[in-house]
Amino acid sequence: MVCLGNICRSPLAEGILASKLPKNKFKVDSAGTGSWHIGRSPDDRSIAVAKKYNLDISTQKGRQFSISDFNSFDYIFVMDNANYDDVLQLAENKQQKEKVHLVLNALFPDENVDVPDPYFGLPNGFEIIYNMLDDACDVIAKQLIAKHH
Ligand code: 4NP
Repeated sequence: MVCLGNICRSPLAEGILASKLPKNKFKVDSAGTGSWHIGRSPDDRSIAVAKKYNLDISTQKGRQFSISDFNSFDYIFVMDNANYDDVLQLAENKQQKEKVHLVLNALFPDENVDVPDPYFGLPNGFEIIYNMLDDACDVIAKQLIAKHH
């Protein structure tokens, strides 16, 4: 799960998807394309909305997306079109490029809808993106379990 800062959207996406998959079969992680928040905890507002839905994301630590992630992961879900472009620029071949998907395309195929960055937005932005990501991760988890059972 990849966003810009790895403190607002992708930590929520990581926590939500991990909660829907069997732990012993899947590895879920998140990263940011930017480097500002390496080593930091998720934004307090992301921690709070996750907690409201009984999810603890408070122990996550920010890290930057790296080229080695193309080898470590089978699927790379990005939050918005800017993240998509940034990650795709790092891909070295077609196989790596094909691993990258906009997360909301799970709900709205081929529409390339962004998960809006809630960082400078209204407080309820976090609730809104939580629900978007929860719906998308329902679909993604079902697909992953069906494919890799
Ligand atoms: P995120 O939100 O990409 O959802 O983690 C952001 C948080 C911080 C910044 C950008 C995006 N920032 O520029 O500090």
